[in-house]
Formats: sequence, structure tokens, C-alpha cells
Amino acid sequence: MEQRTEILLPGVVDPDGLQLRTSSIPVPGAGQVVIRMEATGVSFAEQQMRRGRYYDQPPFPFVPGYDLVGTVEAAGAGTDSALLGQRVAALTKIGGWASHVTVEAADVVPVPAGVDPAEAETVVVNGITAWQMLHRKARVKAGQTILVHGANGGVGSTLAQLARLAGVRVIGTASSRNHDRLRDLGVIPIDYRTDVPAAVRELAPEGVDAVFDHLGVSSVRQSWRLLAPGGTLVSYGSAATLDDSGSKQLPVLKILLRVWAWNALPNGRHAYFYNIWAGRSLAKRRFRTRLRQDLTQVLQAMAEGHIDAQIAARFPLAEATDALRLAESKTVTGKVILTP
Ligand SMILES: NC(=O)c1ccc[n+]([C@@H]2O[C@H](COP(=O)([O-])OP(=O)(O)OC[C@H]3O[C@@H](n4cnc5c(N)ncnc54)[C@H](OP(=O)(O)O)[C@@H]3O)[C@@H](O)[C@H]2O)c1
Repeated sequence: MEQRTEILLPGVVDPDGLQLRTSSIPVPGAGQVVIRMEATGVSFAEQQMRRGRYYDQPPFPFVPGYDLVGTVEAAGAGTDSALLGQRVAALTKIGGWASHVTVEAADVVPVPAGVDPAEAETVVVNGITAWQMLHRKARVKAGQTILVHGANGGVGSTLAQLARLAGVRVIGTASSRNHDRLRDLGVIPIDYRTDVPAAVRELAPEGVDAVFDHLGVSSVRQSWRLLAPGGTLVSYGSAATLDDSGSKQLPVLKILLRVWAWNALPNGRHAYFYNIWAGRSLAKRRFRTRLRQDLTQVLQAMAEGHIDAQIAARFPLAEATDALRLAESKTVTGKVILTP
């Protein structure tokens, strides 16, 4: 009989501490569907979670996996029967690293015909994050100039491509080995190991209209100073503190305090800390509607050839250890994908 397989993160472990577990195939409850996974992936969040460094991760043990793409195999009472057999994407935060995943039917988004499931997977959490920061927070307009830190990363490269699609000039930081890729995407590259503020000022002497910063509190101070009047800083992570010890919430709290202080001053610029889950419990319906709308737009942009997905490698789910190790090696560009 077919079984469900999943990858368990038992505690703070090295990648080879991941465990493979099997169980019976789940039956969806009312309002739920079971997705047969076709592609899930290694996000930055799993790299933080295995170190116990993701600011609101659940207690161990749990099954990681921030998002997935697959086909709806079973639908519970009260769901639309048209979902059966449909290829969908879902944001899960945890639980995606499994052959079969149960989610609320209201949370799945159809994947357009012709889009490869692994390619679609690269723009679920990354695409929603990029779209919402660009269009709901910074509200960029054609002709503006923005700075994207880590413009070859999962979020950064999607954001850069969506911005180019909106007619925005994009300056992006990355290590020099990734500069050709940035140029291919229409991005002006800067090596983050050089004097980034000087290079940005040379390209945009009046400042930039928005900065997207995933690095953390030291970087956001510098990013804030690069804004043109009326500009917007969107901070969305603390990647620079991945290997720190101590409180996992403190790096985010420090950014929140900064953002609050900047917005309290009458200075004509705006700062946000973006969190993909913000508003989930207070206004669930609005949160879901926006998430569905925004992911639909991103997947459509991919279907129309405006977003080039970059896949570093594909591994079967049972080889999640190798997949996580490769993603953390920083030797590859693009997303490491897990398949059944
Ligand atoms: N707030 C939210 O809701 C939310 C949602 C999704 C992701 N995130 C956060 O977003 C961040 C990025 O995630 P991701 O999946 O896009 O990661 P990723 O694919 O690993 O990309 C990270 C990027 O950072 C670049 N980088 C490393 N050091 C840098 C530096 N000093 N200056 C500028 N860039 C540097 C890397 O460039 P090279 O490869 O060239 O070294 C790489 O392109 C993580 O912190 C994650 O937690 C937040």
C-alpha cells in the first residue's frame, strides 16, 4: 500500500540530522484538500529553522517546508470538486517537505497550464514576498530607480524581474560571480564586498526611490541613507545574523524599533518591516484574498515568460539532507528543489 513520506526536523541539528518518516496517506477534513507534492524547496527559512534561528518557528520536532506545488488528490466536504486533479501552489510555512500535504482549500492557488511545477515552486514564498513588497509596500512606479540587496537570491531575483516588468530601473547587489546573471535580468550589478553606498550614489545621485533589504539592522541604517526624498525602505529579514547565538527574535525587534523611530520623524521617507504572515490572524479573509491575488499575478507573469526561474538542483525528498547541505553551501545560484 502507498505510504506518505515526510522529512522531520527533530531539533537543532546538522543537515544529516533530518529524519525520514512514513505514515498513512491523510484524509482531508471538511474544507481541506490533500495535495500530492510535485515540488517543494529549500528556502532560507529552513536554513534558519534547523539552527533554531527563525524568529517564529514552532517547537521541535516538526516537518519543515515553506511552500509546495502539486496536484489535488483528495478534497474534503464543502470544497469545490473542480479542484480534484488540479495543479496548485500553497504557502505552508512548515509541513511542505512531504509527499502528501493537507491544506485548507481556500489557501490553494491554481498554477497556469504549461508552467513546470518546480519552476512554479521557486515563486511561491519568494514571489508573494517580492510582489507584496514591491506593489503593496513600496508601490513603485515606472521610471523610478530601486536598490535590491541580494538581487540574485530567491526573493531578490523575483523582485528585480517584477520591477523590470513594471518599468523600474533596478540596481542590485550580489557577489561578483552572479553579476552576469543580474545583467541578463536587466539589473545594474554592484558587488556587495565593495563600497555599496558610493556605487549607488554614482548611479543615482539624488538617491533611490526604494531599497529592499534582507540583511538586518546594520544594513538598514545604510539603506535608509540612500533613499531619495519620498523614498521607501522595505526591510524583510536578518540574513546577516544566521550564525549568531542568543535570542532569535532580537534581530527583528531591533529592525522594528528602527523602523518605528524613522517613521515617527517627519522626514518625508517611509520604512517598513515586511512579514509575509502579518495580518493573518487579525484579518484572515483579507490576508487570503491578497495572497491569492498576488500569487496569481506572479504565476501569470511566469506563464507569460516575464519571470525566469532559476533552479540550482533537484533532489528526491528522501535526499533532503543533501539538498539542504547544497543550499547552505552558497556555491550554487537558484533554488534547490525537492521532488517526490
Ligand atoms: N519577511 C518575510 O516575510 C520573508 C519572506 C521570504 C524571505 N525572507 C527573508 O529573505 C531573505 C532572503 O531569502 P532568499 O530565499 O531570497 O535567500 P537566498 O536565495 O539565499 O538569497 C540570499 C541573497 O543574499 C545575498 N547576500 C549574501 N550576503 C550579502 C550581502 N552582504 N549583501 C547583499 N547581499 C548578500 C546572496 O548573494 P550571493 O549569492 O551573490 O552571495 C543571495 O543572493 C532571508 O533573510 C529570508 O529570511 C523574508
